[in-house]
Amino acid sequence: MTPVRIDIQAANRHTYPVLLAYGLLANLTQTLDALDVGRRRIAISTLPIWRFVGDRLRTQIAAPEPVLMPDGERFKHLGTVTRLYEGLVRAAAERSSVVLAVGGGVVGDTAGFAAATFLRGLPLVQVPTTLLAQVDSAIGGKVGVNLPAGKNLVGAFHPPVAVVVDPSVLETLPRREFRAGLYEVVKYAMIASPSLFATLSTNLAAVFAKQPDVLVPVIAECCAIKGRIVSEDEHERGLRRTLNYGHTAGHALEAVTRYRRFRHGEAVGYGMLVAGHIGRARGVFADEAFAALSALIASLGPLPPVADLSMAEALGAMRRDKKVIDGRVHFVLPSRIGETVIVNDVSEAELSAALEALGMRH
Ligand SMILES: NC(=O)c1ccc[n+]([C@@H]2O[C@H](COP(=O)([O-])OP(=O)(O)OC[C@H]3O[C@@H](n4cnc5c(N)ncnc54)[C@H](O)[C@@H]3O)[C@@H](O)[C@H]2O)c1
Ligand SMILES: [Zn+2]
Repeated sequence: MTPVRIDIQAANRHTYPVLLAYGLLANLTQTLDALDVGRRRIAISTLPIWRFVGDRLRTQIAAPEPVLMPDGERFKHLGTVTRLYEGLVRAAAERSSVVLAVGGGVVGDTAGFAAATFLRGLPLVQVPTTLLAQVDSAIGGKVGVNLPAGKNLVGAFHPPVAVVVDPSVLETLPRREFRAGLYEVVKYAMIASPSLFATLSTNLAAVFAKQPDVLVPVIAECCAIKGRIVSEDEHERGLRRTLNYGHTAGHALEAVTRYRRFRHGEAVGYGMLVAGHIGRARGVFADEAFAALSALIASLGPLPPVADLSMAEALGAMRRDKKVIDGRVHFVLPSRIGETVIVNDVSEAELSAALEALGMRH
């Protein structure tokens, strides 16, 4: 089995590979040895995730017991990072030790932040186990944790030395988590790939069945798109902003529901529709393309309701979004399937019309 290899260019000309193959975790040791990744490897994971993937990894990692952190977004905070430092001390981690972050985006971000800061930085290997982490959070080098005041407020750029993607681990992923990742896949299709959009629209049953011949190329394409974008633009200028498609309204919906109602991807599903509505109303996004987008998002399954949410609060949250520069909300609008434009003149009236189209009331 030769894995797909996508090289990512990080800052200061350092490159790292994303390696992707169905069943790849069974060969993790050889894979990392071939990359000359340090031999002392310490895994960080959570108990529920380790129950699913630990058997494949236990025999391959020098320190056989992983450092465990509690599972879930609510534990993505500095207290957990402190516990991870203690675990790393117990595991006798030293400068040359390699941290393997085995889990979804929460483990990747939290363990990644611990790796970025322990002893001023240990090499990190991302081993993403959710669809969202495989196509998004494990690539790009952003790590960090939440503060009570907001999400991802503390963090660092700490590019991994490698990202090892094995889509077979997704077999145990709950359907809702899998769907949440699929909205991000739709995002990649919308910003960069009409052919990916077509695959999703015509082959969704095979994707949901996690059929390797369909799912593996889908994940590989997403990794390649994200890789291309972050390689050109690691620190979020220009191009990297297109990755925010669907995220301005999406973040607002997450914020007004205090991160309890939506999986992140689900909120992005709504956000892509909001941007689609605005694009259509401006005449930059064709009716047929909008219909295809709505149909694809609908076919991914039901989204949590929004009709009861306060439009005023959602608008306020958008105004406070990080992407507001000089009082203007930067918005990524679709112009066609596979192409976007960034604008900074979206008015409150356009936003409320789009939210109304989702079913929210004034
Ligand atoms: N760093 C970045 O660039 C970036 C980008 C996007 C998102 N994120 C972050 O990612 C986080 C969300 O990540 P997520 O959606 O992966 O959620 P998550 O890490 O909370 O994982 C979701 C759930 O899936 C379970 N799980 C994981 N792998 C499994 C498997 N193989 N089988 C069965 N269950 C499994 C976990 O136990 C967890 O309960 C957020 O904190 C977000 O801020 C970071
Ligand atoms: Zn996202």
